Amino acid sequence: MKDSVIHLGLAGLGTVGSGLVKIIQENSDWITRRLGKTLKVKTIMVRDLDKPRNVHPSPDTHFTTNMDELLHDPDIDIVVELAGGIDFPRQLITRALSAGKSVVTANKALLAEHGPELFELAAQKNLGLYYEASVAGGIPIIQTLKESLAGNKIKSITGILNGTANFIMSEMSEKGEDFAAVLAKAQAKGYAEADPTLDIEGIDAAHKLVILIRLAYGLDFPMDRLTINGISQVEQFDIALAQEFGYRIKLLAQVREKSGLLHAGVYPALLRQDHILAKVDGPFNSILLDGNAVGPVMLYGQGAGDLPTGSAVLADILALSRTDCPPNNTGFLETRLPLADILAPELTVFRHYFRFTVVDRPGVMASIAGVLGEYNISIAQVVQRQYAPDAGVPIVFLTHSAQMKNAMAALDTIKEFSFVLAPPVHYRII
Ligand code: NAP
Ligand code: HSE
Repeated sequence: MKDSVIHLGLAGLGTVGSGLVKIIQENSDWITRRLGKTLKVKTIMVRDLDKPRNVHPSPDTHFTTNMDELLHDPDIDIVVELAGGIDFPRQLITRALSAGKSVVTANKALLAEHGPELFELAAQKNLGLYYEASVAGGIPIIQTLKESLAGNKIKSITGILNGTANFIMSEMSEKGEDFAAVLAKAQAKGYAEADPTLDIEGIDAAHKLVILIRLAYGLDFPMDRLTINGISQVEQFDIALAQEFGYRIKLLAQVREKSGLLHAGVYPALLRQDHILAKVDGPFNSILLDGNAVGPVMLYGQGAGDLPTGSAVLADILALSRTDCPPNNTGFLETRLPLADILAPELTVFRHYFRFTVVDRPGVMASIAGVLGEYNISIAQVVQRQYAPDAGVPIVFLTHSAQMKNAMAALDTIKEFSFVLAPPVHYRII
């Protein structure tokens, strides 16, 4: 890439692809000043050539539906994959790397599921496979972990990595609305993935967490070993009660290291209202990490959208255009990262929030407290609210730290009592 023009082959001109093209057009002088070269989107691959577009690349930009026109054009220096999905981009990226072209992608699902094989191929070919936009959109977390904090051992990462889920939890907290109504709003605003299950069931955040774990620990943590709980079952009632106790409920993605073992998962959890992540509202994303040298670092910004995500894609293009040094894809020298040693989820320790819906009669509180005591779970706070005489009442316990297997065993025992009227509700407290 020694020429004065860097030619891009772009697959996908949807939200992110359009954002990228807009920034390249609007900031072209600025880019040239930084790079000493100009960027030119030479060819764009889309699914439908007749679709009306809201961005208009230069008149000589060529549109195609044929992948070979990106792969076999010797002018194209970098292939930018912004199509989404798994099968098509997997094939495109594999073939682009095999054809000797560096790749930029925003595709977290692909990297979480098939990252190891793609990074291995990129290493064999000594090519770049860059992915700043794949986690938290415009927030520069990939470069931060790969370069800026490379000298640190990371003790933990806690992130709000899905804007749709955070928007839903924020609206439910602030406006008292129910889950279904707020999800419809998030879809109307364009925050949600095409399949919103990925957002609300925690899978999109889990994809992003797998990518962050690789960068922070140099280890592969397979998706199917993550604990993943979404927010579709979160009730307004618990959000309001948590608020009374001084907490917010957020969908968190978390990895913690202890004695060489990793625990990682995505779950809705209670955060104290004065916790720095509790203030991250709406569709915004944030990542709080703890390095053994730097201490706590927090990043905050827009996790989605055309320009924020396009900004991250462009940063990767500039990085790959600037240097003839060997690319730094994973941040580690191994061609394939080793598997993480994983702490069994039942051995993790958290504080807990339990809600039981029970018959309001003598001895109920004592029976529940007795089971918690049997399982070595210490109660920190408790509240019972009577809403209507003769109706079931909710009792909420906030506990001190307890092992997950004890919490689960206590819930299994308590739910069998005849006075328990509904399945218990349980959240971690962070
Ligand atoms: P999008 O709006 O749905 O656009 C997808 C684009 O790819 C469209 O232009 C489509 O062509 C093209 N395309 C899809 N499948 C294709 C195929 N098989 N062959 C050729 N072209 C194909 O998607 P997006 O929201 O921009 O997302 C792109 C990627 O960025 C995804 O991996 C997503 O997870 C990731 N990402 C998105 C955001 C965000 O804010 N949207 C943020 C971070 C990461 P047509 O236009 O002809 O249909
Ligand atoms: N659907 C994702 C979100 C988009 O809501 O955060 C960015 O990955």
